Amino acid sequence: MPADRDVTAQLNARGDVAVVVPAAGAGVRLGPGAPKALRLLDGEPLLVHAVRRLAAAASVRMIVVAAPPADVDAVLTLLTPVAPVTVVAGGADRQESVAAALAAVPDDVPIVLVHDAARCLTPPSVVERVAAAVRDGADAVIPVLPVVDTIKEVDAGETVLGTVDRAVLRAVQTPQGFRAPVLRAAHAAAADSHTDDAGAVEKLGTPVRCVPGSDLALKITRPIDLALATHLLTLPDPDAPQAAPPGA
Ligand code: CTP
Ligand code: MG
Repeated sequence: MPADRDVTAQLNARGDVAVVVPAAGAGVRLGPGAPKALRLLDGEPLLVHAVRRLAAAASVRMIVVAAPPADVDAVLTLLTPVAPVTVVAGGADRQESVAAALAAVPDDVPIVLVHDAARCLTPPSVVERVAAAVRDGADAVIPVLPVVDTIKEVDAGETVLGTVDRAVLRAVQTPQGFRAPVLRAAHAAAADSHTDDAGAVEKLGTPVRCVPGSDLALKITRPIDLALATHLLTLPDPDAPQAAPPGA
Protein backbone atom coordinates (compact mmCIF):
# COMPACT_ATOMS: atom_id res chain seq x y z
CA MET A 1 0.00 0.00 0.00
CA PRO A 2 1.04 3.63 -0.33
CA ALA A 3 3.82 5.07 1.78
CA ASP A 4 1.39 7.59 3.32
CA ARG A 5 0.27 5.05 5.93
CA ASP A 6 0.39 7.53 8.79
CA VAL A 7 -1.45 10.34 7.04
CA THR A 8 -5.14 10.57 7.87
CA ALA A 9 -7.08 10.19 4.63
CA GLN A 10 -9.71 12.77 3.83
CA LEU A 11 -12.99 11.54 2.42
CA ASN A 12 -14.58 13.23 -0.57
CA ALA A 13 -17.22 15.64 0.79
CA ARG A 14 -18.79 15.69 -2.68
CA GLY A 15 -18.74 11.90 -3.05
CA ASP A 16 -22.04 10.09 -3.62
CA VAL A 17 -21.16 6.89 -1.72
CA ALA A 18 -21.50 5.78 1.91
CA VAL A 19 -19.82 2.50 2.85
CA VAL A 20 -21.27 0.38 5.62
CA VAL A 21 -18.65 -1.98 7.10
CA PRO A 22 -19.87 -4.95 9.15
CA ALA A 23 -16.93 -5.67 11.47
CA ALA A 24 -18.62 -7.05 14.59
CA GLY A 25 -18.01 -10.77 14.02
CA ALA A 26 -16.03 -12.95 16.43
CA GLY A 27 -13.95 -14.76 13.83
CA VAL A 28 -14.67 -18.23 15.26
CA ARG A 29 -13.26 -19.99 12.18
CA LEU A 30 -9.99 -18.08 12.55
CA GLY A 31 -9.46 -19.72 15.96
CA PRO A 32 -9.24 -18.27 19.47
CA GLY A 33 -8.28 -14.63 19.82
CA ALA A 34 -9.60 -11.10 19.45
CA PRO A 35 -12.64 -10.30 17.27
CA LYS A 36 -11.60 -10.93 13.66
CA ALA A 37 -11.61 -7.29 12.54
CA LEU A 38 -9.04 -6.54 15.27
CA ARG A 39 -6.67 -9.41 14.45
CA LEU A 40 -3.35 -8.32 13.03
CA LEU A 41 -2.14 -8.64 9.44
CA ASP A 42 1.38 -7.31 8.91
CA GLY A 43 1.16 -5.61 12.31
CA GLU A 44 -2.15 -3.82 11.73
CA PRO A 45 -5.75 -4.85 12.43
CA LEU A 46 -7.72 -6.19 9.45
CA LEU A 47 -10.15 -3.30 9.92
CA VAL A 48 -7.38 -0.73 9.48
CA HIS A 49 -6.35 -2.35 6.18
CA ALA A 50 -10.00 -2.37 5.05
CA VAL A 51 -10.80 1.23 5.99
CA ARG A 52 -7.57 2.58 4.49
CA ARG A 53 -8.51 1.10 1.11
CA LEU A 54 -12.11 2.33 1.33
CA ALA A 55 -10.90 5.85 2.16
CA ALA A 56 -8.67 5.76 -0.93
CA ALA A 57 -11.69 5.28 -3.21
CA ALA A 58 -12.53 8.64 -4.79
CA SER A 59 -16.35 8.45 -4.51
CA VAL A 60 -16.53 7.64 -0.80
CA ARG A 61 -18.09 10.41 1.31
CA MET A 62 -18.76 8.45 4.50
CA ILE A 63 -17.70 5.22 6.22
CA VAL A 64 -19.81 3.63 8.97
CA VAL A 65 -18.28 0.70 10.87
CA ALA A 66 -20.33 -1.76 12.93
CA ALA A 67 -17.90 -2.83 15.66
CA PRO A 68 -18.16 -5.48 18.36
CA PRO A 69 -20.29 -3.73 21.02
CA ALA A 70 -17.55 -3.96 23.66
CA ASP A 71 -15.00 -2.41 21.30
CA VAL A 72 -16.82 0.64 19.89
CA ASP A 73 -14.60 3.20 21.63
CA ALA A 74 -11.41 1.26 20.89
CA VAL A 75 -12.35 0.97 17.20
CA LEU A 76 -13.03 4.71 16.96
CA THR A 77 -9.62 5.42 18.52
CA LEU A 78 -7.98 2.92 16.18
CA LEU A 79 -9.55 4.31 13.01
CA THR A 80 -9.44 8.05 13.69
CA PRO A 81 -5.83 8.32 12.45
CA VAL A 82 -6.76 6.32 9.33
CA ALA A 83 -9.91 8.11 8.12
CA PRO A 84 -12.93 9.98 9.47
CA VAL A 85 -15.39 7.22 10.37
CA THR A 86 -18.60 6.73 12.28
CA VAL A 87 -18.59 3.69 14.57
CA VAL A 88 -21.77 2.00 15.85
CA ALA A 89 -22.32 -1.15 17.91
CA GLY A 90 -22.87 -4.22 15.72
CA GLY A 91 -25.54 -6.84 16.27
CA ALA A 92 -25.85 -10.57 16.92
CA ASP A 93 -25.47 -11.51 13.24
CA ARG A 94 -24.12 -9.82 10.13
CA GLN A 95 -27.54 -8.68 9.00
CA GLU A 96 -28.15 -6.87 12.31
CA SER A 97 -24.73 -5.25 12.11
CA VAL A 98 -25.43 -3.98 8.58
CA ALA A 99 -28.83 -2.66 9.69
CA ALA A 100 -27.27 -0.81 12.65
CA ALA A 101 -24.67 0.85 10.42
CA LEU A 102 -27.19 1.61 7.67
CA ALA A 103 -29.29 3.50 10.21
CA ALA A 104 -26.40 5.96 10.60
CA VAL A 105 -26.27 6.79 6.87
CA PRO A 106 -28.10 10.05 6.06
CA ASP A 107 -30.89 9.91 3.47
CA ASP A 108 -29.11 12.31 1.12
CA VAL A 109 -26.36 9.81 0.21
CA PRO A 110 -27.60 8.17 -3.01
CA ILE A 111 -25.37 5.06 -3.12
CA VAL A 112 -24.63 2.67 -0.25
CA LEU A 113 -21.98 -0.03 -0.40
CA VAL A 114 -21.79 -2.86 2.12
CA HIS A 115 -18.27 -4.18 2.64
CA ASP A 116 -17.04 -6.94 4.95
CA ALA A 117 -14.13 -5.86 7.13
CA ALA A 118 -12.87 -9.41 6.59
CA ARG A 119 -12.25 -8.61 2.86
CA CYS A 120 -9.59 -6.21 4.02
CA LEU A 121 -7.34 -6.18 0.93
CA THR A 122 -10.08 -5.24 -1.55
CA PRO A 123 -8.51 -2.64 -3.87
CA PRO A 124 -10.11 0.83 -4.14
CA SER A 125 -10.63 0.14 -7.86
CA VAL A 126 -13.19 -2.56 -7.01
CA VAL A 127 -15.02 -0.09 -4.74
CA GLU A 128 -15.13 2.41 -7.61
CA ARG A 129 -16.25 -0.25 -10.14
CA VAL A 130 -19.21 -1.24 -7.98
CA ALA A 131 -20.16 2.38 -7.26
CA ALA A 132 -19.91 3.27 -10.97
CA ALA A 133 -22.29 0.47 -11.96
CA VAL A 134 -24.89 1.77 -9.47
CA ARG A 135 -24.33 5.31 -10.74
CA ASP A 136 -24.89 3.98 -14.27
CA GLY A 137 -28.36 2.83 -13.30
CA ALA A 138 -28.19 -0.57 -11.60
CA ASP A 139 -30.26 -0.93 -8.43
CA ALA A 140 -27.88 -3.52 -6.99
CA VAL A 141 -24.34 -4.57 -7.95
CA ILE A 142 -22.08 -7.38 -6.76
CA PRO A 143 -18.41 -8.06 -7.52
CA VAL A 144 -17.93 -11.67 -8.63
CA LEU A 145 -15.32 -14.16 -9.75
CA PRO A 146 -15.75 -17.27 -11.89
CA VAL A 147 -15.88 -20.54 -9.95
CA VAL A 148 -12.69 -22.51 -10.60
CA ASP A 149 -13.45 -25.79 -8.81
CA THR A 150 -15.79 -28.47 -10.12
CA ILE A 151 -18.90 -28.28 -7.91
CA LYS A 152 -20.91 -31.38 -6.92
CA GLU A 153 -24.32 -31.54 -5.32
CA VAL A 154 -24.40 -34.26 -2.62
CA ASP A 155 -27.00 -35.88 -0.37
CA ALA A 156 -26.90 -36.14 3.42
CA GLY A 157 -24.72 -39.27 3.13
CA GLU A 158 -22.09 -37.52 0.98
CA THR A 159 -23.11 -39.42 -2.16
CA VAL A 160 -22.96 -37.32 -5.31
CA LEU A 161 -26.30 -36.36 -6.80
CA GLY A 162 -24.86 -34.52 -9.75
CA THR A 163 -22.33 -32.06 -11.13
CA VAL A 164 -23.37 -28.43 -11.30
CA ASP A 165 -22.53 -26.50 -14.48
CA ARG A 166 -19.95 -24.10 -13.09
CA ALA A 167 -20.13 -21.86 -16.18
CA VAL A 168 -23.31 -20.37 -14.73
CA LEU A 169 -21.93 -19.99 -11.20
CA ARG A 170 -20.18 -16.98 -9.66
CA ALA A 171 -18.38 -16.57 -6.34
CA VAL A 172 -19.62 -13.36 -4.73
CA GLN A 173 -17.50 -10.79 -2.89
CA THR A 174 -18.01 -7.38 -1.34
CA PRO A 175 -18.42 -4.42 -1.55
CA GLN A 176 -21.97 -4.88 -2.78
CA GLY A 177 -23.52 -1.66 -3.98
CA PHE A 178 -27.09 -0.39 -3.95
CA ARG A 179 -29.22 2.59 -4.64
CA ALA A 180 -29.79 3.56 -1.02
CA PRO A 181 -33.60 3.21 -1.02
CA VAL A 182 -33.29 -0.29 -2.52
CA LEU A 183 -31.01 -1.48 0.29
CA ARG A 184 -33.23 0.11 2.95
CA ALA A 185 -36.32 -1.55 1.48
CA ALA A 186 -34.58 -4.93 1.30
CA HIS A 187 -33.49 -4.73 4.92
CA ALA A 188 -36.92 -3.63 6.06
CA ALA A 189 -38.51 -6.58 4.21
CA ALA A 190 -35.95 -9.25 5.13
CA ALA A 191 -37.68 -11.86 7.25
CA ASP A 192 -35.04 -14.60 7.03
CA SER A 193 -31.40 -14.26 7.82
CA HIS A 194 -29.22 -13.71 4.76
CA THR A 195 -25.43 -13.85 4.40
CA ASP A 196 -25.25 -11.16 1.74
CA ASP A 197 -27.27 -8.03 1.13
CA ALA A 198 -27.87 -8.71 -2.55
CA GLY A 199 -29.73 -11.86 -1.43
CA ALA A 200 -32.29 -9.70 0.38
CA VAL A 201 -32.62 -7.47 -2.70
CA GLU A 202 -33.15 -10.52 -4.96
CA LYS A 203 -36.09 -11.56 -2.78
CA LEU A 204 -37.78 -8.27 -3.68
CA GLY A 205 -37.49 -9.26 -7.35
CA THR A 206 -34.96 -6.52 -8.05
CA PRO A 207 -32.30 -7.40 -10.65
CA VAL A 208 -28.72 -7.62 -9.36
CA ARG A 209 -25.87 -6.83 -11.77
CA CYS A 210 -22.45 -8.50 -11.63
CA VAL A 211 -19.13 -6.70 -12.18
CA PRO A 212 -15.63 -8.26 -12.00
CA GLY A 213 -14.30 -8.80 -8.48
CA SER A 214 -10.68 -9.30 -7.47
CA ASP A 215 -8.52 -12.09 -6.08
CA LEU A 216 -7.40 -9.52 -3.51
CA ALA A 217 -10.96 -9.24 -2.22
CA LEU A 218 -10.72 -12.68 -0.60
CA LYS A 219 -12.47 -13.02 2.74
CA ILE A 220 -10.19 -13.74 5.69
CA THR A 221 -12.05 -16.70 7.19
CA ARG A 222 -9.56 -19.42 8.22
CA PRO A 223 -5.91 -19.23 9.33
CA ILE A 224 -4.73 -20.12 5.81
CA ASP A 225 -6.42 -16.97 4.51
CA LEU A 226 -4.32 -14.85 6.88
CA ALA A 227 -1.18 -16.57 5.59
CA LEU A 228 -2.28 -15.90 2.01
CA ALA A 229 -3.10 -12.26 2.78
CA THR A 230 0.32 -11.78 4.37
CA HIS A 231 1.86 -12.87 1.08
CA LEU A 232 -0.53 -10.78 -1.03
CA LEU A 233 0.62 -7.66 0.84
CA THR A 234 4.11 -8.20 -0.59
CA LEU A 235 2.83 -7.98 -4.18
CA PRO A 236 2.76 -4.72 -6.16
CA ASP A 237 -0.24 -2.44 -5.56
CA PRO A 238 -2.80 -3.52 -8.21
CA ASP A 239 -4.11 0.04 -8.53
CA ALA A 240 -0.70 1.64 -9.04
CA PRO A 241 -0.30 3.25 -12.49
CA GLN A 242 1.51 0.86 -14.83
CA ALA A 243 5.01 1.88 -15.83
CA ALA A 244 5.28 2.48 -19.55
CA PRO A 245 7.03 -0.42 -21.31
CA PRO A 246 10.60 0.33 -22.47
CA GLY A 247 10.61 2.19 -25.78
CA ALA A 248 6.90 3.07 -25.53
N1 CTP B 1 -20.12 -9.57 11.07
C1 CTP B 1 -20.72 -8.54 11.79
N2 CTP B 1 -21.55 -8.83 12.85
C2 CTP B 1 -21.78 -10.11 13.20
C3 CTP B 1 -21.18 -11.18 12.47
C4 CTP B 1 -20.35 -10.87 11.39
O1 CTP B 1 -20.51 -7.37 11.50
N3 CTP B 1 -22.56 -10.35 14.26
C5 CTP B 1 -19.18 -9.22 9.99
C6 CTP B 1 -17.78 -9.77 10.24
O2 CTP B 1 -17.07 -8.90 11.13
C7 CTP B 1 -17.20 -9.81 8.84
C8 CTP B 1 -18.43 -10.01 7.94
O3 CTP B 1 -19.59 -9.79 8.76
O4 CTP B 1 -16.54 -8.62 8.48
C9 CTP B 1 -18.46 -11.40 7.32
O5 CTP B 1 -18.62 -12.35 8.36
P1 CTP B 1 -17.63 -13.58 8.63
O6 CTP B 1 -16.55 -13.63 7.63
O7 CTP B 1 -18.48 -14.78 8.88
O8 CTP B 1 -16.93 -13.09 10.00
P2 CTP B 1 -17.15 -13.65 11.46
O9 CTP B 1 -18.60 -13.84 11.71
O10 CTP B 1 -16.37 -12.76 12.36
O11 CTP B 1 -16.38 -15.05 11.38
P3 CTP B 1 -16.90 -16.47 11.92
O12 CTP B 1 -18.19 -16.75 11.15
O13 CTP B 1 -15.79 -17.42 11.59
O14 CTP B 1 -17.12 -16.29 13.41
MG1 MG C 1 -19.71 -15.31 10.55
